[in-house]
Amino acid sequence: MKTIIEPFRIKSVEPIRLTTRAERRALLQAAHWNLFALRSEDVTIDLLTDSGTSAMSARQWAALMLGDESYAGSPSFYRFEAAVKALMPFKHVIPTHQGRAAEAILCSLIGGAGRVIPSNTHFDTTRGNIEASGAQALDLLLAEGRDPASRHPFKGNIDLARLQALLEERGVEVPAVMLTVTNNAGGGQPVSLQNIHATAELAHRYGKPLIIDGCRFAENAYFIKLRERGQQGRAVADIVRDMFCVADGMTMSAKKDAFANIGGWLALNDDGLAQRARERLILTEGFPTYGGLAGRDLEAIAQGLAEVIDEDYLRYRLRTNEYILERLRALGVPVMEPSGGHAVFVDARAFLDHIPPLQYPGQALAVALYEYGGIRSCEIGSVMFGRQSDGGERPAMMDLVRLAMPRRVYTQAHADYVVEVFGEIVASRRELRGLKIVEQPQRLRHFTARFEPL
Ligand code: F0G
Repeated sequence: MKTIIEPFRIKSVEPIRLTTRAERRALLQAAHWNLFALRSEDVTIDLLTDSGTSAMSARQWAALMLGDESYAGSPSFYRFEAAVKALMPFKHVIPTHQGRAAEAILCSLIGGAGRVIPSNTHFDTTRGNIEASGAQALDLLLAEGRDPASRHPFKGNIDLARLQALLEERGVEVPAVMLTVTNNAGGGQPVSLQNIHATAELAHRYGKPLIIDGCRFAENAYFIKLRERGQQGRAVADIVRDMFCVADGMTMSAKKDAFANIGGWLALNDDGLAQRARERLILTEGFPTYGGLAGRDLEAIAQGLAEVIDEDYLRYRLRTNEYILERLRALGVPVMEPSGGHAVFVDARAFLDHIPPLQYPGQALAVALYEYGGIRSCEIGSVMFGRQSDGGERPAMMDLVRLAMPRRVYTQAHADYVVEVFGEIVASRRELRGLKIVEQPQRLRHFTARFEPL
C-alpha cells in the first residue's frame, strides 16, 4: 500500500476549540504578537513544539501506575536506567526534570569564562546555558546545512575541518565537543553515523570528550537507516547504540524521543565528572534516583524508549513532515529541503523577501499563520538568535518558521488543513508586514519579547 497510515488508533480525545479570524486578531494584540503568550485553548493546531506534547500510549499510561515514589532507590529509577543503557551504553545515567537541567549541570562543570564549546549547532537553551556560564557557544555546521535549498542527506553534520582548526588553534579553551542530533535549530536535519564517529575520533585525538545532545536520537537513527550507505539492513536500536558508543556523555530531553511529557537526563562515562554532576543534581534537581522527576515519570520514559524505535512509527513520523513539505513546495512556499525529523521549516526570509531580516519575516509569517488559521508555529531566526552578547543586533543565519509536529497527536486531515491555510497566505503574502520589538529580556528573548506590527 502507498498510503502510510498513522500506525495507531485513538482511544482518548481532546476537543479543539475553533475560533474566528476576528477573535484571533484580538488575541494576537493581547499577546503582543508573541505566540508564546497565547493560551493554548485559543490555538487550533499547535505546532509550537514537539516537546512534551506527545500522546502517550496505553502502555505508558499503564506504566504510570507502576511508579514507585520512594525518595531513594525506587525500582522505577532502575527500570529507567536500564531502558536508557539498553540504547545508550553510558556508565552513569542521571535523571533531570528536562533537557535544559542536564545542560545547566553540565555547563556548571565544564563551562566558564575563557572556554569555548563547539557543536554542529547548539539549541537555544544549550547556547543560553553555555553563555550563562561565561563560555562561548560556537556553531560549526557544514556549509550545506546553512543552505535551505541544498538536498544534502545529512545537513546536520558538523564541519570537521573547522572543528579541527578550532582544536588546533584554541584547543586549550575547549572543554568538550558537542553534537546535536538531529540539528533542531538548523531544520531538524540529521547527523550521519560517519560524522558522529569522525567527530568522536577528532575530539579524542585532542583529548576532548564528545557530548551528544540526543533529544531526537530515534529520528536521527532512522534517517541514517534510510540514507547512509550500508545501514539499510540494520535495526534502529543497533544504529542508536552505534551513535552513542563513541560518545563520552549525552544530554537528553525525554520530552522529545521518549514520548514523555516531562523528563530528561545527563549521562556520562567519567566517574569524577559524574560524581560532581550528582552533587550539583542534589542541590538543584533532587536525589540521584529521581532527579526532579516523579517515579511515574521515569516509568513513562522507560516505556517510551521501547516504543520510539519502532520502525512503523518512525516511517509514519518522517512521512508526515515530508507530506506537508511536498504540498507546501507545490504551493510555491520555500521550504528547508529535505524535510526534517520533527518539523517542517519554512524559509520565511525567502517567502517574505519584502520584509528585511531585522523586521523579522519569520515572526511575521508565524503571526499570519495564527491570524489566518489558528496555527501556532515558532520563529527560528533573527528574533531567537539576533541579539548579540554586546546588546546589539544582527540578522540570524536564516529566518525560518518551524512547524513542529507533536508525536502521535495530529492526523492527515490536520496536515491538510495546515497546507490550506498556507494557500491563503500565499495569495496575500505581499500584504504581510514586519514587526518591531518593543520590550525584551536579556536572554532567550523569543519567549517573552513584545512586538508591534510595522
Ligand atoms: N536540545 C535540543 C536540541 C532541543 O530541541 C531542546 C528543546 C533542548 C535541548 C532542551 O530540552 O526543553 O527538555 O529543556 N527543544 C524544545 C523545542 C523546547 O521546542 O525545540 P528541554
